[in-house]
Amino acid sequence: MSEVNRNVPYLSIKDLVVEYMSDGQVVHAVNGVSLKLDRGTTLGLVGETGAGKTTIAKSILRILPDVGAKITGGKVELDGKDLLQLPEREMQQIRGNEISMIFQDPMTALNPVQRVGDQIAEVVALHLEPGSKTNPMERAKEMLEIVGIPGERYYDYPHQFSGGMKQRVVIAIALACNPNLLLADEPTTALDVTIQAQVLDLIGDLRKQFNTAMLLITHDMGVVAQVCDTVAIIYAGSIVEYGTKEQIFDHPSHPYTIGLFGAIPDMNEDEIWLHPIEGLPPDPTNLPKGCPFSPRCKYATEECRQGVVPVSETPDGHQCRCCHMEEVRKEREA
Ligand SMILES: Nc1ncnc2c1ncn2[C@@H]1O[C@H](COP(=O)(O)OP(=O)(O)O)[C@@H](O)[C@H]1O
Ligand SMILES: [Mg+2]
Repeated sequence: MSEVNRNVPYLSIKDLVVEYMSDGQVVHAVNGVSLKLDRGTTLGLVGETGAGKTTIAKSILRILPDVGAKITGGKVELDGKDLLQLPEREMQQIRGNEISMIFQDPMTALNPVQRVGDQIAEVVALHLEPGSKTNPMERAKEMLEIVGIPGERYYDYPHQFSGGMKQRVVIAIALACNPNLLLADEPTTALDVTIQAQVLDLIGDLRKQFNTAMLLITHDMGVVAQVCDTVAIIYAGSIVEYGTKEQIFDHPSHPYTIGLFGAIPDMNEDEIWLHPIEGLPPDPTNLPKGCPFSPRCKYATEECRQGVVPVSETPDGHQCRCCHMEEVRKEREA
């Protein structure tokens, strides 16, 4: 897994399909998602609550619930190797050494009855090369300093930290194994707006310092603007638009993406869960036949409701899944 294969993307998700069984109904959470991520770069995965973002991250790590969740199609290739086909034992190696995940709520990731420093040192100790002279406790103190917490606080318990500090500890734990890929699932959503910006800056700096690739999950275009290289917009379990940050910000082409731009939160207000687009996402147990956004879309025509809308791609790789892309762009850029 460590040798670099330059001919394939570092992470490549192909046609991923994930379903949950809930009350005897099938929840179509992820419906044929394809994504690519190169080494050392950050991909923003953006969409409203319920779009399937966390399900994708958990599918990569294969930590979906054993009962009631099923990956029914697709591949998750890391350096060309399909993680979905690996024996669990090999997957455990990858979870510890290659890929780390930061969850939305720092409390669920920390053990309330263990000193924070020990929680970092434990991960360090697990990942020492045989014969290494690194002292896990010293390294844990260094990691605390790296995330902006004085090393003496090694001995404190999680409840002695604020929300932002706890998330810094979580980040230190996630980076302690020196992962090549960080899955950051709304890492700042549970934090105060002012602390959010600091934690995001920290993640951005560390990512560069450690050259870690990152899948950054968010519902916030402001966060994307600050941190990401490429962006995938997800709606009802389908990627509706994909491109570089410049392509998405300068030439947004899907009506849903344009709606999301209206949702950049005002930093002076507390309300960050804006719903700028009229209506609600479709019921995932009963998705519309064609474009899942069509019931909310002012451009929608009969064509959109017929069947799966194909992806169009510009020569420079900007992808969009919309029958009315040209019209949408023209109107936007007029
Ligand atoms: N354990 C579960 N059982 C049943 N449905 C689930 C489960 N987890 C998530 N879902 C459903 O799957 C869809 C995608 O959820 P999720 O991946 O958490 O979205 P996001 O992270 O974008 O908010 C939603 O409709 C959600 O209700
Ligand atoms: Mg989520």
